[in-house]
Amino acid sequence: MTGTLPDTYADKDVSDLTADEAAAEHAVLAAAIAHHDRAYYQQDAPEIDDAEYDALRRRIEAVEAWFPELRTADSPTQRVGAAPAAGFAKVRHRVAMLSLGNAFEESDVVDFIARIRRFLSLADDAGLAMIAEPKVDGLSCSLRYEDGVLVRAATRGDGQEGEDITRNVQTIDDHNLPKTLKDAPAVVEIRGEIYMTRNDFRELNERQAAAGRTVFANPRNAAAGSVRQLDVAITRDRPLRFFAYTWGEISAPLGETQSGVRARFADWGFALNEPAALCHSAEELLAHYHRIAEERATYAYEIDGVVYKVDRLDWQERLGYVSRAPRWAIAHKFPAEQAHTILNNISIQVGRTGALTPVAELEPVTVGGVVVSRATLHNEDEMARKDVRKGDTVIVQRAGDVIPQIVGVVLERRPVGAERFEMPDHCPDCGSEAVRPVGEVVRRCTGGLICPAQAKERLKHFVSRDAFDIEGLGGRTMEQFHNRGIVTTPVDIFTLQDRNERGFKDHPPLGNWQGWGPKSVKKLFAAIDERRRIPLDRFIYALGIRHVGQATARLLARVYGTWPAFRAAMEAAADPDGAAFRELTDIDQIGRVMAEEIVAFFHEPHNRELLDTLAGAAGDGEPTAGIVTVEPFEAPDSGAGDTPIRGKTIVFTGSMETMSRPEAKARAEMLGAKVAGSVSKKTDFVVVGADAGSKEAKARELGVTVLSEEEWRTMIDEQA
Ligand code: IVH
Repeated sequence: MTGTLPDTYADKDVSDLTADEAAAEHAVLAAAIAHHDRAYYQQDAPEIDDAEYDALRRRIEAVEAWFPELRTADSPTQRVGAAPAAGFAKVRHRVAMLSLGNAFEESDVVDFIARIRRFLSLADDAGLAMIAEPKVDGLSCSLRYEDGVLVRAATRGDGQEGEDITRNVQTIDDHNLPKTLKDAPAVVEIRGEIYMTRNDFRELNERQAAAGRTVFANPRNAAAGSVRQLDVAITRDRPLRFFAYTWGEISAPLGETQSGVRARFADWGFALNEPAALCHSAEELLAHYHRIAEERATYAYEIDGVVYKVDRLDWQERLGYVSRAPRWAIAHKFPAEQAHTILNNISIQVGRTGALTPVAELEPVTVGGVVVSRATLHNEDEMARKDVRKGDTVIVQRAGDVIPQIVGVVLERRPVGAERFEMPDHCPDCGSEAVRPVGEVVRRCTGGLICPAQAKERLKHFVSRDAFDIEGLGGRTMEQFHNRGIVTTPVDIFTLQDRNERGFKDHPPLGNWQGWGPKSVKKLFAAIDERRRIPLDRFIYALGIRHVGQATARLLARVYGTWPAFRAAMEAAADPDGAAFRELTDIDQIGRVMAEEIVAFFHEPHNRELLDTLAGAAGDGEPTAGIVTVEPFEAPDSGAGDTPIRGKTIVFTGSMETMSRPEAKARAEMLGAKVAGSVSKKTDFVVVGADAGSKEAKARELGVTVLSEEEWRTMIDEQA
């Protein structure tokens, strides 16, 4: 050890490190800093003095200055605010906590309104009232009241499961957050935003700085860092406030309109987002948006846009949700904030699917309250269009929590002799050829599974929040494990404990690593064990197949139901003229390109081998069990229970009178049905509207049940 520097290559000058040594040292330093942050902030028990801590920080800064690719988003040098707290109990939300879709342009708002009108089949002269209110930038929170008493407060977490912050929230004063409600339903969950005013934020930072503690980057981080404190005494000291704007589980309706519920919230003593306006057209919404944008600087707190919501709650219910956001609301964001800075270098990042992304290494600059030192340059076409060169002065922009972007170059300030950037034709990580297929914008490394960069990104995706979500195995730890060769495939995660107990060849046991102790190792293994069972949709998503995001994974899980069924179908689909492939492309929203990508994934021998070990093999012989158990897909409970169309396949054709096509499809899916695009023997019902064509004929030919619009309505209305 050199002072407190970890025992790695600390005796070497940073400039003498090889890339591998730098990566290993970086991982060790990051873990050490995380450890000391925890000791300092959460346990209030620092193990080293400030000078020693600063030495760790300086060393990691130096490593990153020489090896900028190590400066990932989760590096301690990029982290703002308090260290993330561990140790909160989990709370499962009875009603998911969703996010909002975004509108950036006025045309997005016009489209949003048009979409709602179409979905609801509103006549041209029918009114559509919308509420518009500011969008506060804080941390969303769900407050559960039973018999009028606050019993539980939870963060959003991943939307399904958050953290129990009841004790922290109880420290917020009654003016901002009433602990009891008069005349409330037996169960009511009030949802809103915990935030900090600009003044309170400034004062808090002054106090923090004076005490030599972390200074927060912006009020949002300060609010989040203050709530998520294991030591409630710290939260009590922080000036937090709360706005109520929506609700979760309720045992009785709160009103008939959004504005009615707002009034109810106000009666209960909650503060609301103001100014709110009831608007009747896109023009009125936009007028309110412009008013708020102009007044924005005079508000006591930061806002990042305006939220529009359909006022009628029965319509909200009909509109429902797509994936993670309601169809009945949207966040209209303010334009991004911009700053000028120097582009020091252009590096190449290799992603999970091999995509080569040019990344701008920037002279650090503050944009919208956050220090930005890297920004994506997207791809070579974008690079060519913007003609960004090393040494250029560039305009950096950041909108909300969106990744920073480079919007342009200040040409007058271009250094003499600056050269155009050429995209490499080989992968900087594994040296394989990097090719750009005709008609595509992205150049990809062809190294596939042999490319360490791809493997690492895949692993990070595999354990990420919406996939296996293994606590304590975040991106940085995964990176460390991968760099040291102890986890190179997903299977390795599940054999880690065994191998650790038997002893690694080149490394001491985990418990002896810097930043790790017997307790954290035990916790990690427990967290891994907890994920040996995983729902099908998460499993499909975790595989990281190109184009298959969360929504598609869920769709596939719903259609195929179980892992063996899905796998068998994907293998059978290798024949593009066969029935299995047709069935796949028949799924609404799965196009040919996506289908081919999925099928290719299941065809690849290494992937098949991995899947056999991971989830078990059917094969020719006896089926074998896998390391993990993939649970059959369970449709999220829509409250619909068993319905006559659960599990059935429905095709809609022709135009319907009382319901738009998207609404019909959404209703069917909510009741547990699959909606397909074309009729086959597997179709259970074909619902025909006016002017139905060949699909109706085909249905009759195949003997599939044909329903009129009226029959269809009767069938689903019985469910209401
Ligand atoms: S309504 C179904 N209203 O912004 C979700 N959300 O970016 C309905 N937010 O998840 C949310 N101000 O945490 C709503 N006035 C407001 C809001 C607001 C801030 C947050 C909320 C949401 C996030 C989406």
